[in-house]
Amino acid sequence: MGFLGILIQVTWVAVMLSELAAAAIAFPIALPNCPDKCGDVKIPYPFGLRKGCSIDQDFLINCTNSFGPTQPILGNLNVTNFSLEGQAHVLAYIAKDCYKKGVLDHSIWNMVWLRSGLNFTISNTQNKFIVVGCDTHAYLKFQQDKENFSTGCVSVCESSRHIVNGSCSGIGCCELNIPNGLKYVKLVSYSFKNHTEVEDFNPCGYAFISQQTMFNFSSDSLHSLQHQKMTPVVLDWAIGTERCKDVVNKSSYACGGNSTCIDSDNGSGYRCKCMEGYHGNPYLHLGCQDINECEDHNPCKLPGQKCINGPGNYTCSCIKGYHDVSAGICVINQSSRLVTLLVGIGISFMVAIVCSSWLYLIFKKRQLIKLKQRFFEQNGGLILQQKLSKQENSAETTKIFTMKDLKKATNNYDEALIIGRGGFGTVYKGILPNNTIVAIKKSKIGDESQIEQFINEVVVLSQINHRNVVKLLGCCLETQVPLLVYEFIPNGTLFEHIHHESKVSTISWETCLRIATETAEALSYLHCAASPPIIHRDVKSSNILLDSTYTAKVSDFGASKLVPLDQTQLATLVQGTLGYLDPEYMQTSQLTEKSDVYSFGVVLVELLTGKKALSFDRPEEERSLAIHFLSFSKDNRLFEVLEKHLAKEENVEQLKEAANLAKMCLRLKGEDRPTMKEVATKLEDLRKMEKHSRDNVDSNSEETKFLHTRTSDSHNYDVDNQSADVNDTVRDHVALLDFDDGR
Ligand SMILES: *[C@@H]1O[C@H](CO)[C@@H](O)[C@H](O)[C@H]1NC(C)=O
Ligand SMILES: *[C@@H]1O[C@H](CO)[C@@H](O)[C@H](O)[C@H]1NC(C)=O
Ligand SMILES: *[C@@H]1O[C@H](CO)[C@@H](O)[C@H](O)[C@H]1NC(C)=O
Ligand SMILES: *[C@@H]1O[C@H](CO)[C@@H](O)[C@H](O)[C@H]1NC(C)=O
Ligand SMILES: *[C@@H]1O[C@H](CO)[C@@H](O)[C@H](O)[C@H]1NC(C)=O
Ligand SMILES: *[C@@H]1O[C@H](CO)[C@@H](O)[C@H](O)[C@H]1NC(C)=O
Ligand SMILES: *[C@@H]1O[C@H](CO)[C@@H](O)[C@H](O)[C@H]1NC(C)=O
Ligand SMILES: *[C@@H]1O[C@H](CO)[C@@H](O)[C@H](O)[C@H]1NC(C)=O
Ligand SMILES: *[C@@H]1O[C@H](CO)[C@@H](O)[C@H](O)[C@H]1NC(C)=O
Ligand SMILES: *[C@@H]1O[C@H](CO)[C@@H](O)[C@H](O)[C@H]1NC(C)=O
Ligand SMILES: *[C@@H]1O[C@H](CO)[C@@H](O)[C@H](O)[C@H]1NC(C)=O
Ligand SMILES: *[C@@H]1O[C@H](CO)[C@@H](O)[C@H](O)[C@H]1NC(C)=O
Repeated sequence: MGFLGILIQVTWVAVMLSELAAAAIAFPIALPNCPDKCGDVKIPYPFGLRKGCSIDQDFLINCTNSFGPTQPILGNLNVTNFSLEGQAHVLAYIAKDCYKKGVLDHSIWNMVWLRSGLNFTISNTQNKFIVVGCDTHAYLKFQQDKENFSTGCVSVCESSRHIVNGSCSGIGCCELNIPNGLKYVKLVSYSFKNHTEVEDFNPCGYAFISQQTMFNFSSDSLHSLQHQKMTPVVLDWAIGTERCKDVVNKSSYACGGNSTCIDSDNGSGYRCKCMEGYHGNPYLHLGCQDINECEDHNPCKLPGQKCINGPGNYTCSCIKGYHDVSAGICVINQSSRLVTLLVGIGISFMVAIVCSSWLYLIFKKRQLIKLKQRFFEQNGGLILQQKLSKQENSAETTKIFTMKDLKKATNNYDEALIIGRGGFGTVYKGILPNNTIVAIKKSKIGDESQIEQFINEVVVLSQINHRNVVKLLGCCLETQVPLLVYEFIPNGTLFEHIHHESKVSTISWETCLRIATETAEALSYLHCAASPPIIHRDVKSSNILLDSTYTAKVSDFGASKLVPLDQTQLATLVQGTLGYLDPEYMQTSQLTEKSDVYSFGVVLVELLTGKKALSFDRPEEERSLAIHFLSFSKDNRLFEVLEKHLAKEENVEQLKEAANLAKMCLRLKGEDRPTMKEVATKLEDLRKMEKHSRDNVDSNSEETKFLHTRTSDSHNYDVDNQSADVNDTVRDHVALLDFDDGR
């Protein structure tokens, strides 16, 4: 409300001021109660349209519409403008001498009169007598001092080609100065040969008086003037016949206040003029008004000056803080100079700060955009985009996220949202705009040499759709390190479930077996079904995630290739996954699918024993769980190392088989180990057996035997004669039970 009120007031004040200014400029030009316009033409005093409105009879203007539009008539002339500098602009007829086939056209006059009005003269300085034609001689006739005078000129040409545009020197056009003081003239035009020789381009001869600047001769004029009736003429006017010195003290003196008297240049009479610094109509009593020079165009432009308007003139005085040294030269006072200096410095300083910070922000933003683009390219975004666009099915599942998306999803990488840290990076929990919960992995190192590989892996991973493999939803390449976006698995890692005190013993053997089976199936899928085959390289319990129903989800594969080979060992050592590392691979650096089998064997042992893969708490020879386990099982002390809550009598059979399987996986030579597919099948069989045995708590041995026979028949793989071992284990069922009981 307050703001609106102020706004309205400001507007109102502005309107008032502009109205005042307009009023000051629009000074009156006519006497009070007298019309000041006829048609479009302003009628300033001493002219007037009525008796009593003009200074005398001579200045009485006939405003009529009898010739068409309403216009002022003076003598026999149309007036187009009255100027207070002693001139009137009028229109005058052109004398034309026209022929058709050598016969004079009587409908057009070759003779016209120009009657300026009693005491007005045809301006000899602004007008010229002009004759146009190629077969023409024309005359200007007038009376002066009661004597007849005549002057004229000749214009001839044989072809319009000879015409020089703009030149009135007798070829097609001639011109004469006008004698001074003419009031009444006659213009006559004649032809020598009735235009018979030039009729095609010049049918007429023309004679007229024209304002000099208003007529430009060109070859066009020879016929175009045919259609023009009138030309503009300037008349001079003056008041009375007396000179200034004679009239100043007379009552008839026509000039108003603040004006001066000027003798008419030529002829008789005088004119009035506003004094310097005034403007308006000098013939009116209060016609001349002061010009506010300060408002129109501030003339005081030197520093420290201000303009003060006075009657008829103005002064430039010094503003506060300056003093006048000589005639309007203003110099700053010493005291104010300091203040000005300080204020100036302050303002420039602030401007500089604002500008530079603004520029800096722009620069930063540009840099960021450039950087993002560079990272995108460096991280192989273009290649990836290309590859993804080629695979129709993956394009819909794998997405390229923007940096902004992920920053928002992770609440700007909030520490509180970290759900995992590893050798390869940090994993954040994030929520996408569509409320999907995701895990976002920020890799540690981006190595340019591995881009192609990384891209290939992302592309391959995007194709994988296995229920036991953590799904890659997409990635972001705009950051220095690529960000990978996975589906979120809520229940933590298998490692936690096995080793964290709080979670120990929560998973049953049945679940353990299922997790092992699912993991084996996932790895088997990666090895066999995926093309090209994918070697996980880092199978371990902490890379097996569990969802809400304890379904295993293998994670963190492929990404390991992001890390240069020489740093892999370092990273895995830090992670403590040395315990999972295939000894053969460690020695030969030859990576095969069997390395994953070894690592899986370690995980299986971990599940069975509940012990960590590598523990420095154990004596040196037992640090590696694999070696520890193998030595125990060799000594047939298997059940000493098994996790206690698993080693129940109904599990004994399966435990032994599983342990056997683990042993095979942990064989030193990779080629002796079973393939992942075989492992998966074996575990699946074990599960069926376990289920069956649970269904038959009464332990129908016939049934068990039958089941086993059936399942072992269905084994279509060769586990290096291990099938015999398996059968042995089944046969030892009862003995093992006894053994367990005996403990
Ligand atoms: C004005 O002109 C009209 C038409 O020519 C004429 O009838 C009339 O008498 C004139 N009036 C004056 C005041 O000259
Ligand atoms: C004044 O001009 C009009 C055309 O504008 C013309 O018809 C009329 O004859 C002219 N009158 C005089 C007196 O020149
Ligand atoms: C009339 O003459 C005055 C002064 O010479 C000039 O300022 C004004 O523009 C002219 N008006 C027309 C309509 O020609
Ligand atoms: C001037 O010319 C007119 C006719 O054009 C004539 O009546 C008059 O007598 C002449 N005057 C003199 C002094 O010759
Ligand atoms: C020009 O025309 C006039 C009358 O129209 C005629 O008397 C005269 O003889 C003509 N002159 C020539 C040269 O044709
Ligand atoms: C005549 O020519 C001059 C320059 O050549 C130009 O400024 C002026 O406007 C012209 N006048 C007319 C009436 O065309
Ligand atoms: C003279 O001017 C006219 C038009 O104004 C043009 O058509 C003609 O070519 C010009 N002649 C010369 C010689 O410039
Ligand atoms: C106009 O001029 C004549 C002389 O040419 C003079 O007698 C007359 O007084 C003048 N009229 C006015 C109003 O000045
Ligand atoms: C006009 O009258 C004043 C006094 O009223 C006088 O001083 C001045 O000289 C007179 N001017 C002329 C030109 O007579
Ligand atoms: C002359 O102008 C001044 C300032 O504008 C003014 O005060 C004074 O009344 C004017 N004199 C006449 C006679 O108009
Ligand atoms: C007209 O003015 C000129 C100078 O501008 C002057 O020489 C001449 O005598 C004047 N003629 C008349 C008749 O006043
Ligand atoms: C301004 O006018 C006043 C009175 O008309 C005069 O006293 C003063 O000297 C003038 N100043 C200038 C700078 O012309």
